[in-house]
Amino acid sequence: MSWVVDPSSKVVFGAVASIVTEKGEEEIQPRTDDEWNNARNHAAVLIEAGNSLMLAGRARNPKIQDQQDWNAKARAMSAAARVAIEATDVKDAEALFAASGDIYQTCTDCHAKYIFTPEPSAAQ
Ligand code: HEC
Repeated sequence: MSWVVDPSSKVVFGAVASIVTEKGEEEIQPRTDDEWNNARNHAAVLIEAGNSLMLAGRARNPKIQDQQDWNAKARAMSAAARVAIEATDVKDAEALFAASGDIYQTCTDCHAKYIFTPEPSAAQ
Protein backbone atom coordinates (compact mmCIF):
# COMPACT_ATOMS: atom_id res chain seq x y z
CA MET A 1 0.00 0.00 0.00
CA SER A 2 2.58 2.57 1.02
CA TRP A 3 5.00 1.71 -1.76
CA VAL A 4 2.74 0.91 -4.70
CA VAL A 5 -0.89 1.88 -4.25
CA ASP A 6 -0.52 5.13 -2.35
CA PRO A 7 2.16 6.86 -4.49
CA SER A 8 0.42 6.01 -7.75
CA SER A 9 -3.00 7.02 -6.49
CA LYS A 10 -1.56 10.40 -5.48
CA VAL A 11 -0.42 11.03 -9.04
CA VAL A 12 -3.84 10.07 -10.42
CA PHE A 13 -5.79 12.01 -7.78
CA GLY A 14 -3.55 15.04 -8.22
CA ALA A 15 -3.67 15.09 -12.01
CA VAL A 16 -6.86 17.15 -12.20
CA ALA A 17 -7.83 19.78 -9.67
CA SER A 18 -9.02 23.32 -9.21
CA ILE A 19 -6.97 25.47 -6.90
CA VAL A 20 -8.40 28.75 -5.70
CA THR A 21 -5.71 31.37 -5.15
CA GLU A 22 -5.75 35.12 -4.64
CA LYS A 23 -5.42 35.49 -8.38
CA GLY A 24 -8.48 33.38 -9.03
CA GLU A 25 -9.11 29.80 -9.87
CA GLU A 26 -6.33 27.75 -11.34
CA GLU A 27 -7.19 24.60 -13.23
CA ILE A 28 -4.68 21.81 -12.82
CA GLN A 29 -4.82 19.15 -15.50
CA PRO A 30 -2.43 17.23 -17.71
CA ARG A 31 -1.51 19.36 -20.73
CA THR A 32 1.45 17.78 -22.46
CA ASP A 33 1.59 14.22 -23.78
CA ASP A 34 4.11 13.45 -21.04
CA GLU A 35 1.70 14.61 -18.36
CA TRP A 36 -1.16 12.57 -19.79
CA ASN A 37 1.12 9.54 -20.09
CA ASN A 38 2.23 9.96 -16.51
CA ALA A 39 -1.36 9.90 -15.27
CA ARG A 40 -2.06 6.87 -17.46
CA ASN A 41 1.02 5.00 -16.24
CA HIS A 42 0.07 5.44 -12.61
CA ALA A 43 -3.50 4.37 -13.26
CA ALA A 44 -2.00 1.25 -14.86
CA VAL A 45 -0.03 0.60 -11.67
CA LEU A 46 -3.33 0.72 -9.74
CA ILE A 47 -4.86 -1.86 -12.08
CA GLU A 48 -1.95 -4.20 -11.47
CA ALA A 49 -2.01 -3.48 -7.75
CA GLY A 50 -5.66 -4.54 -7.71
CA ASN A 51 -4.69 -7.74 -9.50
CA SER A 52 -1.90 -8.52 -7.09
CA LEU A 53 -4.10 -7.82 -4.06
CA MET A 54 -6.15 -10.84 -5.18
CA LEU A 55 -3.22 -13.23 -4.94
CA ALA A 56 -3.73 -15.91 -2.33
CA GLY A 57 -2.80 -14.78 1.13
CA ARG A 58 -3.07 -11.06 0.44
CA ALA A 59 -6.51 -10.59 1.99
CA ARG A 60 -6.27 -8.87 5.34
CA ASN A 61 -8.14 -8.81 8.57
CA PRO A 62 -7.90 -11.83 10.80
CA LYS A 63 -11.53 -11.41 11.82
CA ILE A 64 -13.09 -11.43 8.38
CA GLN A 65 -11.73 -13.90 5.89
CA ASP A 66 -14.02 -13.39 2.97
CA GLN A 67 -11.79 -13.89 -0.03
CA GLN A 68 -14.58 -13.32 -2.53
CA ASP A 69 -15.56 -10.01 -1.03
CA TRP A 70 -11.91 -8.96 -0.77
CA ASN A 71 -11.37 -9.86 -4.43
CA ALA A 72 -14.46 -7.90 -5.42
CA LYS A 73 -13.07 -4.83 -3.67
CA ALA A 74 -9.66 -5.24 -5.27
CA ARG A 75 -11.33 -5.72 -8.66
CA ALA A 76 -13.38 -2.56 -8.13
CA MET A 77 -10.17 -0.59 -7.69
CA SER A 78 -8.75 -2.02 -10.92
CA ALA A 79 -11.99 -1.30 -12.77
CA ALA A 80 -12.08 2.32 -11.61
CA ALA A 81 -8.43 2.71 -12.63
CA ARG A 82 -9.32 1.27 -16.05
CA VAL A 83 -11.89 4.07 -16.47
CA ALA A 84 -9.16 6.58 -15.56
CA ILE A 85 -6.96 5.14 -18.33
CA GLU A 86 -9.81 5.49 -20.82
CA ALA A 87 -10.04 9.15 -19.80
CA THR A 88 -6.33 9.65 -20.46
CA ASP A 89 -6.70 7.90 -23.83
CA VAL A 90 -9.07 10.63 -25.01
CA LYS A 91 -7.42 13.35 -22.86
CA ASP A 92 -10.66 14.07 -21.02
CA ALA A 93 -9.75 15.88 -17.79
CA GLU A 94 -13.30 15.89 -16.44
CA ALA A 95 -13.62 12.14 -16.91
CA LEU A 96 -10.24 11.64 -15.26
CA PHE A 97 -11.39 13.72 -12.30
CA ALA A 98 -14.58 11.68 -12.00
CA ALA A 99 -12.62 8.42 -12.26
CA SER A 100 -10.29 9.61 -9.49
CA GLY A 101 -13.29 10.08 -7.22
CA ASP A 102 -14.47 6.58 -8.05
CA ILE A 103 -11.01 5.13 -7.37
CA TYR A 104 -10.91 6.91 -4.03
CA GLN A 105 -14.27 5.38 -3.15
CA THR A 106 -12.87 1.90 -3.79
CA CYS A 107 -9.97 2.63 -1.41
CA THR A 108 -12.28 3.65 1.39
CA ASP A 109 -14.69 0.77 0.72
CA CYS A 110 -11.94 -1.75 1.28
CA HIS A 111 -10.32 0.07 4.20
CA ALA A 112 -13.66 0.41 5.96
CA LYS A 113 -13.97 -3.33 6.17
CA TYR A 114 -10.45 -4.67 6.20
CA ILE A 115 -8.21 -2.35 8.12
CA PHE A 116 -7.96 -4.14 11.39
CA THR A 117 -8.44 -1.90 14.37
CA PRO A 118 -7.46 -3.49 17.65
CA GLU A 119 -9.99 -1.40 19.55
CA PRO A 120 -13.34 -1.36 17.79
CA SER A 121 -15.21 1.91 18.07
CA ALA A 122 -18.44 2.15 20.03
CA ALA A 123 -20.40 2.01 16.80
CA GLN A 124 -19.36 -1.58 16.09
C1 HEC B 1 -8.81 -4.73 -1.49
C2 HEC B 1 -8.58 -3.90 -0.35
C3 HEC B 1 -7.90 -2.57 -0.44
C4 HEC B 1 -7.99 -1.62 -1.43
C5 HEC B 1 -8.84 -1.66 -2.69
C6 HEC B 1 -7.14 -0.54 -1.02
N1 HEC B 1 -6.55 -0.81 0.18
FE1 HEC B 1 -5.23 0.41 1.19
N2 HEC B 1 -5.11 -0.96 2.69
C7 HEC B 1 -5.78 -2.16 2.73
C8 HEC B 1 -5.48 -2.83 3.99
C9 HEC B 1 -6.00 -4.17 4.43
C10 HEC B 1 -4.59 -1.98 4.68
C11 HEC B 1 -3.99 -2.22 6.08
C12 HEC B 1 -2.54 -2.52 6.02
C13 HEC B 1 -2.24 -3.95 5.89
O1 HEC B 1 -2.93 -4.78 6.49
O2 HEC B 1 -1.25 -4.27 5.19
C14 HEC B 1 -4.40 -0.82 3.83
C15 HEC B 1 -3.57 0.24 4.17
C16 HEC B 1 -3.37 1.38 3.40
C17 HEC B 1 -2.50 2.47 3.78
C18 HEC B 1 -1.69 2.57 5.07
C19 HEC B 1 -0.27 2.12 4.85
C20 HEC B 1 -0.05 0.68 5.16
O3 HEC B 1 0.59 -0.03 4.34
O4 HEC B 1 -0.48 0.20 6.23
C21 HEC B 1 -2.58 3.40 2.77
C22 HEC B 1 -1.84 4.72 2.70
C23 HEC B 1 -3.51 2.88 1.79
N3 HEC B 1 -3.96 1.64 2.20
C24 HEC B 1 -3.86 3.53 0.63
C25 HEC B 1 -4.78 3.03 -0.29
C26 HEC B 1 -5.26 3.78 -1.44
C27 HEC B 1 -4.84 5.19 -1.78
C28 HEC B 1 -6.13 2.96 -2.10
C29 HEC B 1 -6.90 3.23 -3.37
C30 HEC B 1 -6.23 3.76 -4.51
C31 HEC B 1 -6.20 1.71 -1.37
N4 HEC B 1 -5.37 1.79 -0.28
C32 HEC B 1 -6.98 0.64 -1.75
C33 HEC B 1 -6.63 -2.67 1.76
C34 HEC B 1 -6.99 -2.03 0.58
